[in-house]
Formats: sequence, C-alpha cells, structure tokens
Amino acid sequence: MPCLDPMSLIPLLETCQARTEKALQHWLPTTRVNPVLLHEAMRYSSLDGGKRVRPLLVYLTGQMLDVAPAALDGPACALELIHVYSLIHDDLPAMDNDELRRGKPTCHIQFDEATAILAGDALQSLAFYILAHDPDMVDKPALRLKMVESLALASGSRGMAGGQAMDLAAEGARQVMNLIELENMHIHKTGALIRASVKLGALSQPDIEPEQLEKLDHFAKCMGLAFQIRDDILDVEGNTETLGKPQGSDQARDKATYPSLLGMAEAKRRADELHQEAIDSLSHWGEAAQPLRDIAGYIIHRQS
Ligand code: IPE
Ligand code: IPE
Ligand code: MG
Ligand code: MG
Ligand code: MG
Repeated sequence: MPCLDPMSLIPLLETCQARTEKALQHWLPTTRVNPVLLHEAMRYSSLDGGKRVRPLLVYLTGQMLDVAPAALDGPACALELIHVYSLIHDDLPAMDNDELRRGKPTCHIQFDEATAILAGDALQSLAFYILAHDPDMVDKPALRLKMVESLALASGSRGMAGGQAMDLAAEGARQVMNLIELENMHIHKTGALIRASVKLGALSQPDIEPEQLEKLDHFAKCMGLAFQIRDDILDVEGNTETLGKPQGSDQARDKATYPSLLGMAEAKRRADELHQEAIDSLSHWGEAAQPLRDIAGYIIHRQS
C-alpha cells in the first residue's frame, strides 16, 4: 500500500484538534468552582494534549455523511473524555504504574491517586451528560439514545474496561496468551472506543442505512485492532520523548503484546493486513472517504 506523506495530513489533524479543544473547553468544569482540585485534574488530563484520534474519527465519519460539524462536537468530546478517563486509570499504580503521559506527569503524580481515580470517574460521567444534554446533536431522540447505548457498551465490561481486565489478568501470567486471546483483548481494550467513535459519527446522520453502518463498523473494527498493534510496536521502537509516555513500559511489565507474541515483522504484517481490510470496506463511498482512508494510513504509520 502506498505510504502517504504524513505532512499532508497536518492541516486536517490540526483543524480537528482545535475544534476538539474548543468543545472540551466548553464542557469541562471551571476551576473557579468547587471541588477545585478535582476540576483542575480533569482539565489537566483532558486539555492541550493527545492526538485526538477518536474525535477525528467522529468528525471525518460525520463529514463524509454530510453531518454539520456542530452536531459532531458533542460525540467527539464524549469519546475523548472516556478515552482520557481510561488513560488516567491505565496509568495508576494498580494498573500500568506509569509516570509520564502526553509529555507531562500522569494525573496521579501531578495530583494524587484518589484525585486521579475521581477525575477518571467524573470524566466518564461528563461524557454521558454531554450525549444526553447537548442541544446541537442529532435531532432524533432514538439516535441519541442509541449513541448512549453504544458508548456505554464500548466503555464497560464488554468493551474497554473488560479489555483492561484481560490485560491485567495476563500480566506476567505463567500461561502466555494465544493469538486469539490477544486479539480479543486488543479489540476490547482499544478497539471498542475506536469503533464507537465511527459509530457515533455515523449515527449523527439520521438517514444512515444499516448496510452503511455495517461497512463503517467493519472499517472501525479493523482500525481499532490495528491502532493497538501500532501502539504495541511503538512501545518497542518509539522513543519516550516523541511518544510522550515511557517507551518500554510493556516489556517492563511483561505485557502480552503483538511484538512479544508474534515478533516485530509479523506484528507489522498484521497491521498492514488490517489496514488493507479497513480500506476495502470504504469502497462504497469513493472519493468522499479519502479523509478516512488518510487517517487509517496515519494510524498505521504514526510515530506517536
Ligand atoms: C493510547 O491512546 C492508549 C491506547 C488506547 C493505545 P492514544 O495513542 O490515542 O493516546 P493519545 O490520546 O494520543 O494521548
Ligand atoms: C491502554 O493500553 C488501553 C486503554 C484502555 C487505556 P496501553 O496500556 O497499551 O496504553 P498506553 O501504551 O499506556 O498508552
Ligand atoms: Mg495498559
Ligand atoms: Mg498503559
Ligand atoms: Mg501501550
């Protein structure tokens, strides 16, 4: 597959990142009201950092389906807030015990463990508040409800939290995971929120057809798994400064990863294969799907 010049994507990434930042600023509680420390921690971890890949997928899916950007701000924020909550908890001593995230001290290092736990909890609640409340979102209660249902499923024990539980259970386990178990873990811990991002973007279009939803879901399922494979690869080949998080953390904790189970060459081959499968499922949209294709390439080749 031809490798696209990552520089050509910078304007697209920056536009979506700026839009996400503005929407997050709108929804996050101010530090002028109590409890100040909790609000500071929520803002510290959410604002001014991260690639914003999940919002990007919401915006690009919606844009391809002719949804107005204002209707996508709420879903984009909701996805990012759940993601940030998952990162705060993922970094806790009881989980990956990491001290660097997005180039700065992790939430529990900057504040304290209890505040980090509560910041994660509160960000999760805020995500669902936005989906229930945002007046600019799709004007159909049934679709809004479907979004709440989809995000709840993707975040909980049958989605991200379930995948995190599998990850922790496998850590340092005597019995190594097989490939099916590893893939299942990745599909849950990371894939579920990537999939929900595309789904919420698509559900913002009231005229979306079930077959279109299915094709987009397949695209997202492939890219969600590929996203975590790339994350595993970068843990080995990346560097801490570019990543903004500690390189080598997986090996230090004896995590089950694609490179550790399959070797680096096979991990990369699998990511490329999933990328191709994702691209194939967008054929229905022709040129209109080019931004989504470009982002899929970026996810596979990113350095951070
Ligand atoms: C990191 O996600 C955690 C995973 C699910 C792999 P990202 O790579 O999207 O992290 P940010 O949001 O850019 O910091
Ligand atoms: C985390 O996976 C997935 C989440 C649900 C946060 P990782 O533990 O590999 O994420 P990083 O590498 O710390 O960002
Ligand atoms: Mg982890
Ligand atoms: Mg981690
Ligand atoms: Mg990782």
